[in-house]
Amino acid sequence: MILLLTLISAALASQGSAAAVSGKASSFAGSTSTFQFPPADVTATASLIDSYFPDPTEVGFSGPTPTGDEAESVATAPAPAPVQGYFPLVRPDTSDNKGEDFDVVRSWANLSPMQSVKSFGLDNATEQVPEGCKLNQVFLLHRHGARYPTSGSAPAVFATDLHSAAGNGTLVATGPLEFLNTWTYKLGAELLTPFGREQLFNLGVGFRVKYGDLLKNFTGLPVWRTTSEARMVDSALHFAAGFFGVQSYQSSYHQLIEIEEEGFNSTLVPWDVCPNANNAIWELGDDATAAWNNVYLVDAQKRFAQYLPGFNLTIEDVAGMQALCPYETVALGYSAFCDLFTEDEWKGFAYGIDLKFWYGDGPGNPAVSAQGIGWVQELVSRLTKTRITTFDTTLNGTIVGNEDLFPLDQPIYVDASHDTVISAVLPAMNFTFLAAGGPLPLDHIPDNQTYKIQDISPFASRFVGQVLSCPASDTPTHIRWILNDAVLPQTGIQGCSDDPNGLCELDTFVAGMKQRIEEVDFVFDCYANYTVTLGNDTITNGQYPQ
Ligand SMILES: *[C@@H]1O[C@H](CO)[C@@H](O)[C@H](O)[C@H]1NC(C)=O
Ligand SMILES: *[C@@H]1O[C@H](CO)[C@@H](O)[C@H](O)[C@H]1NC(C)=O
Ligand SMILES: *[C@@H]1O[C@H](CO)[C@@H](O)[C@H](O)[C@H]1NC(C)=O
Ligand SMILES: *[C@@H]1O[C@H](CO)[C@@H](O)[C@H](O)[C@H]1NC(C)=O
Ligand SMILES: *[C@@H]1O[C@H](CO)[C@@H](O)[C@H](O)[C@H]1NC(C)=O
Ligand SMILES: *[C@@H]1O[C@H](CO)[C@@H](O)[C@H](O)[C@H]1NC(C)=O
Ligand SMILES: *[C@@H]1O[C@H](CO)[C@@H](O)[C@H](O)[C@H]1NC(C)=O
Ligand SMILES: *[C@@H]1O[C@H](CO)[C@@H](O)[C@H](O)[C@H]1NC(C)=O
Ligand SMILES: *[C@@H]1O[C@H](CO)[C@@H](O)[C@H](O)[C@H]1NC(C)=O
Ligand SMILES: *[C@@H]1O[C@H](CO)[C@@H](O)[C@H](O)[C@H]1NC(C)=O
Repeated sequence: MILLLTLISAALASQGSAAAVSGKASSFAGSTSTFQFPPADVTATASLIDSYFPDPTEVGFSGPTPTGDEAESVATAPAPAPVQGYFPLVRPDTSDNKGEDFDVVRSWANLSPMQSVKSFGLDNATEQVPEGCKLNQVFLLHRHGARYPTSGSAPAVFATDLHSAAGNGTLVATGPLEFLNTWTYKLGAELLTPFGREQLFNLGVGFRVKYGDLLKNFTGLPVWRTTSEARMVDSALHFAAGFFGVQSYQSSYHQLIEIEEEGFNSTLVPWDVCPNANNAIWELGDDATAAWNNVYLVDAQKRFAQYLPGFNLTIEDVAGMQALCPYETVALGYSAFCDLFTEDEWKGFAYGIDLKFWYGDGPGNPAVSAQGIGWVQELVSRLTKTRITTFDTTLNGTIVGNEDLFPLDQPIYVDASHDTVISAVLPAMNFTFLAAGGPLPLDHIPDNQTYKIQDISPFASRFVGQVLSCPASDTPTHIRWILNDAVLPQTGIQGCSDDPNGLCELDTFVAGMKQRIEEVDFVFDCYANYTVTLGNDTITNGQYPQ
């Protein structure tokens, strides 16, 4: 099927994605399983006749169905309900059990299920609309839910090595690693896990309860966006199912699916049109993690090697074993790898991911604001209701130039995207306080670390913009931003003052964003041939220093 652009009812999108997902057998490096459900030839139900199972409209008798009013709990409730916990995942332990309050799940960084961030310094501000203000519009940029590892990542490499040793009959694991003698790698790649689906469904339910009242101001059906990867479509549909309900979501909105593939423009996957996001400049992030792995994992490597005689256990293997803890937990509900590591090693794990993002996908990488700026251009377009006519960044003119595909009058905008897009949009918008601690050291965890991926891009991360009128009216006057339920200070954005509720006047904010669009040199930062020496740079704004 060559229908690449898909502005269709979610009914079609839903069928398309179901087909795409079930067509994928799990035959990938490291895997020992090729199970898929339903099986390719469904014999179990083949003898049953469809008419035995009429749908609800044919059966009838649905009982009374009066609809209630829409909710807007951010305006009506005294305080927001935080996202806490991760049912049905089993909370793992650490091997030293040092800190009773230490929840290892909060050290998984971008592999952690989103839980509400306590504060970004504005302790008295919450997602509740500030007193005297009225909510006019909301923007949501969210990440997909928990997924299997990406293709070729460290856990699969470790599994391949281990299975190979088991196949050779050379694997003799003892002591705390004895379970490896019978352990098999059960993870797929890239797709959402069942828990990841729950996260997005819950995000949709939560968004309806918090912001549903804004539906009254739509003049047509909402157009919400995602990208074409299976987990992205799946995430968007689960959000919609949670927001509208499974009986009606297919007819309640339009799902725009932007192509995620090399060479295709989309602000939701900007690296596909930014060469420096695919070469040694981007690899600075992995280089930083590798350097740090050689610091914090040395003890674990020694500790484990004695229990794996004859197996050449590399630092990368140990990193793969550690990453198996979050990956197995979010996919299988539990992992025996978690307890192998100490609390300090888990802090080290989180820091390794902070380093990867800082130098590869965040404020320390010179091609990152360039990758975030396309979404900022779209934001300005939406806020000012002005259609973009020049497409010289990651913008896709076919989409952004079209009023059906990219409407400018929506009370609720929903964009599904990736961890690295949220981490690129933040420096592109100049949320400078997240980078206030400066470049992250490669050999120790700094005391005053302000840049934590746990707070920025966990699974199902949510970046929310509230457009408000203060004092209350229908004329928007202010905007503020809420990242994983904590209000962000906008003090880095020129003209925005230090407000206890994180508010900035809308005109000032828009002027600041327009200035950022001028400040970020997309062509140079994405295309120029420059070098950055890891550990010897001062980049904190995601741009190459001019
Ligand atoms: C929050 O409110 C308390 C009590 O009014 C006040 O003492 C404190 O300074 C406020 N904190 C911030 C960050 O504004
Ligand atoms: C197992 O044997 C294969 C083929 O001889 C070899 O390539 C591989 O390195 C061996 N694996 C281990 C872990 O010894
Ligand atoms: C822009 O998006 C449309 C719709 O998905 C697609 O057909 C087109 O190839 C994209 N253009 C570029 C340059 O990526
Ligand atoms: C162990 O693996 C490392 C990294 O792949 C390699 O450099 C080293 O030569 C290997 N050692 C042995 C004894 O095979
Ligand atoms: C895609 O992006 C490139 C690079 O910025 C730009 O030259 C091109 O016009 C864009 N294409 C579309 C359809 O927007
Ligand atoms: C963080 O600590 C380092 C080292 O003590 C110091 O140089 C830096 O100025 C501090 N940054 C902030 C934002 O406090
Ligand atoms: C939203 O809709 C309500 C009810 O129809 C209307 O009173 C209000 O003016 C609208 N608000 C905006 C910002 O358009
Ligand atoms: C962004 O932050 C830098 C300092 O970190 C500042 O020089 C610049 O003016 C800011 N730009 C805007 C538009 O806020
Ligand atoms: C980038 O510059 C370096 C040093 O001048 C040069 O060796 C390299 O070939 C250049 N790379 C590209 C892709 O032009
Ligand atoms: C680090 O950066 C400084 C200032 O740009 C430069 O003088 C120095 O030579 C650099 N050192 C290394 C090891 O690259």
